[in-house]
Amino acid sequence: MNPVMDNILTRRSVRSFRKDQISEKDLDTILLAGSYAPSGMGLQSWKFTAIQDPETMQKVNEAMRLTLKSLSPETHPYYVKLIQKAQDEHANFLYEAPTYIIVSNLIDNQNSMADCALAIGNMMLAAHSLRIGSCWLNQLPRLSEMPLIRNLMKELSIPDNHNIYGSVAMGFQAEDPKPAVPRNNVIHIIR
Ligand SMILES: Cc1cc2nc3c(=O)[nH]c(=O)nc-3n(C[C@H](O)[C@H](O)[C@H](O)COP(=O)(O)O)c2cc1C
Repeated sequence: MNPVMDNILTRRSVRSFRKDQISEKDLDTILLAGSYAPSGMGLQSWKFTAIQDPETMQKVNEAMRLTLKSLSPETHPYYVKLIQKAQDEHANFLYEAPTYIIVSNLIDNQNSMADCALAIGNMMLAAHSLRIGSCWLNQLPRLSEMPLIRNLMKELSIPDNHNIYGSVAMGFQAEDPKPAVPRNNVIHIIR
């Protein structure tokens, strides 16, 4: 099979990671792949913030946990399980991955979400081609407006005029992910 197609068809979300770090060269390659995604009007207004420092990772996790803990399940039904999990002070929301990439972009650009999603897709496929597992994590994007997360973003030098639109946990997979589920009637060709 064409190796690009093989890479696309065999990528799976990985949620269990080994502790060993990916190489600097591989991280650079993955970020390069993200930065070469198309962007609306070629704006390239996104920013990729890659975290490998354990202390910073801990800070991100704690900001996420305290923010989730402060939410009410009634006003945030999407987060019920995460709010419960956040009560445990040892809870980890990053699958204990050694690398975490936050993708932010302009608050007031209509293409921000699409641009970030394409870049993340590129990075996940680039990672898979290097035998590195990844999983999109959707907590931070929904919490960008919360004060603790804004403070965290400032600390990480994410611009004030950005929101977080996506983030990815990365590392070597600790166990094989489940096989892909079949695709259900999602393709329609009109000839
Ligand atoms: C926009 C988006 C948000 C996602 N959020 C999460 C998440 O917060 N946590 C998680 O474990 N997986 C998350 N995923 C991964 C999906 O659950 C996963 O891609 C889907 O189940 C298909 O599995 P596959 O990636 O192995 O093909 C997300 C994926 C996308 C595209």
